[in-house]
Amino acid sequence: MACKKASDNLIFSSLACLVLVLQMSGASCQGVQGGYWFPGSGVSASGIDSTLFTHLFCAFADLDTTTNTVVVSSANTQPFSTFTADVQQTNPNVVTLLSIGGGASSPGDFSNMASQTSSRQSFIDSSISLARSYGFDGLDLDWEYPESDTAMSNLALLLNEWRAAITAEAQSSGKDPLLLTAAVYYSSIHDGISYPVSSLSSSLDWINMMDYDFYGPGWSSVTGPPAALYNPGNQVSGDNGVTAWLQAGMPVQQMALGFPFYGRAWTLQDANDNGFFAPATGAAISSDGAIVYNQILSFITQNSATAAYNSTYVSNYCYSGTTWIGYDDTESISTKVAYAKEKGLLGYFTWHVGGDSNWALSQQASTTWNS
Ligand SMILES: *[C@@H]1O[C@H](CO)[C@@H](O)[C@H](O)[C@H]1NC(C)=O
Repeated sequence: MACKKASDNLIFSSLACLVLVLQMSGASCQGVQGGYWFPGSGVSASGIDSTLFTHLFCAFADLDTTTNTVVVSSANTQPFSTFTADVQQTNPNVVTLLSIGGGASSPGDFSNMASQTSSRQSFIDSSISLARSYGFDGLDLDWEYPESDTAMSNLALLLNEWRAAITAEAQSSGKDPLLLTAAVYYSSIHDGISYPVSSLSSSLDWINMMDYDFYGPGWSSVTGPPAALYNPGNQVSGDNGVTAWLQAGMPVQQMALGFPFYGRAWTLQDANDNGFFAPATGAAISSDGAIVYNQILSFITQNSATAAYNSTYVSNYCYSGTTWIGYDDTESISTKVAYAKEKGLLGYFTWHVGGDSNWALSQQASTTWNS
């Protein structure tokens, strides 16, 4: 990004910065250093070190299938309504987005909503009102995932109408337009079905590519790098996803690379076979093997586990006895952020900030991005 580069021509760099800000409708010169947060994730909103982020996503608002409106559960009303004020105490410039949907929501509900003009309009209008009434700067759609070509076409209609409504609302309110983003699959093709890339590009400010959950005990009978940046033996990696999005026509400056502040734990078949792709009998630690970074560090300390970094895949792993965990530590994070920078991506984001340990990973990411 032009405005990030040191320049002895201050006037030029200010202009370049201004142009970029206008183009990105709100994404600052720092690009996107993003993080998702949800209530009960181990940190309160006011406890987030928001100086390490440019954008924070509050997860999740829900789709009410009766009214096709965006709603916040009663338990989340208080934390969501104060989220922006809470995170801006530490960093008044941090930009906030309300995220809708998520991995636990039903993709069919979104398909139904997106299939009719009237229900799309209810969804769009209610999302804008909700974002404004709670003081968010933007909206983020986490529809995981549109499951047919029809659903993808309807996603395109939804996004086009959403962008038009956001532009109109900004004109009538005199406020800056809300940002509009979406969390998407790591690749531009999900289960053989392509995203409507030109609509994503024209209607969204950017996409958050979910470059994780590549391997997990629920779907892989061997250990693996859960969020590999590279994967010489297989198509599943962050780099392959970035390449697919670029080939499908997504502009590089509208793409943010995702990485997890959690890992996946397996039970090894044989404690002595403890590398990648080692036979496993199932999940360890939790039912789906998910374990956040700060708990992984505790596991290593308490069990004197062996920890290693593999630069071929860009993944950390550790093991003790028959428990094996693949995850991202500071080496993986810094390599991924350096990759995002070098590729010219808009930035990066993490799921989720509550998994960090004393902000070590967030700090590493921010330092690498701004270096
Ligand atoms: C990473 O792991 C793979 C698979 O186990 C191995 O072949 C490779 O040598 C490792 N790379 C490094 C740098 O340790």
